[in-house]
Amino acid sequence: MTTHTVRIEPLGAEIECREDQTVLDAALREGIWLPHACTHGTCGTCKAQILEGDADLGDASPYALLESEREEGCALLCVACPRSDLVVEGEVDVEEGVDIHPVRDRAGQVAVAEDIAPDVRRVVITLDEPLAFNPGQYVLLDVPGGEQRPYSIASSPADGGRIELHIKRSEDGLCTDGWIFKSLTAGERVTLSGPYGQFSFRPLREEPVLLLAGGTGLAPMVSMLRHLVETGIEREVVLYHGVATQEDLYDAEWFETLQAEHDWFTYRPALSRDSWRGRSGRVPALLAEDYPRASGHVAYVCGSPAMVADTMKALMKARLFPRDIYREDFFDAADRAAGTHVVRSPLIRR
Ligand SMILES: Cc1cc2nc3c(=O)[nH]c(=O)nc-3n(C[C@H](O)[C@H](O)[C@H](O)COP(=O)(O)OP(=O)(O)OC[C@H]3O[C@@H](n4cnc5c(N)ncnc54)[C@H](O)[C@@H]3O)c2cc1C
Ligand code: FES
Repeated sequence: MTTHTVRIEPLGAEIECREDQTVLDAALREGIWLPHACTHGTCGTCKAQILEGDADLGDASPYALLESEREEGCALLCVACPRSDLVVEGEVDVEEGVDIHPVRDRAGQVAVAEDIAPDVRRVVITLDEPLAFNPGQYVLLDVPGGEQRPYSIASSPADGGRIELHIKRSEDGLCTDGWIFKSLTAGERVTLSGPYGQFSFRPLREEPVLLLAGGTGLAPMVSMLRHLVETGIEREVVLYHGVATQEDLYDAEWFETLQAEHDWFTYRPALSRDSWRGRSGRVPALLAEDYPRASGHVAYVCGSPAMVADTMKALMKARLFPRDIYREDFFDAADRAAGTHVVRSPLIRR
């Protein structure tokens, strides 16, 4: 396979990139940080300017990379592959305190594949070699047939040889309906790569923490909580977990035990459809009730793009600035086709 040299400005770093490899992949494997979130050409976070050379723009969503931006020489580096030597200019700033772990390929064996709620499975993979990652990051799981899907890691970075995922079934979804919920069982060999994403716990931020999760958006929060417990980092943390019904509320006992053992942690499960002994309503509405003013906090939001967008609005209404909010949108193929959730503000972090 032909390879090309890609120079990344303003760093001036040079990397080799194959014609069948994306520029983002080549950079992350060399330990060079470039901003990215979905790695599927959907969100626009990895947009960069191609200053010199030719690239195949790949499967970039027309909503995330507009025609006018293509004409101006922009590309989404998570799907763009070189066709000649390139010079690209991206935002390469690494936030202080955030470790950079080069992307690696890993193989492993499924140790656990269990239903933990209706249409939600916990999959634990024992890797042949450990993977280093920051709490909150995700892996790309290889789906039989050649495609990949992103899943957030719920396990602790201290135990990089064991990757836990929380996976929700998507109707007619290739990876979920077609594999994980159909035939995946303990003992099966799987491959994945990682870590990816910039949604991770920021150890240098000392403000009280709001963890706001919808459905399986809980997974990265679990990794962050495990990390806090294991490292003894002291933060006041409130976790909201929003689901539809009581049956959907998984791992509640674990959070209740954590709350009983640590006075820095508060667990606030919320049901949007059922009345029960606890709170009912959607996370953004409960947040607005509990925090008319949220300034002085740092918030991490993860779930479906609609849940994330509504929660962002509630947080900003409560006077939390975009610089104090980190988000992970669980985009899927339907969101990509609709193109309604591309984030255009550079102020909003992922
Ligand atoms: C950074 C990131 C992290 C994620 N982490 C998690 C996680 O921890 N847990 C989790 O459960 N999910 C997570 N997701 C979502 C996950 O990656 C998959 O998108 C999801 O599991 C669906 O995959 P699938 O292959 O089963 O469905 P897909 O085949 O991708 O399809 C998804 C849905 O879209 C529909 N669809 C397919 N093509 C089209 C089309 N052209 N037009 C309209 N509709 C279409 C399908 O019928 C299906 O309902 C994450 C996503 C991102 C971006
Ligand atoms: S990371 Fe490239 S478009 Fe989302």
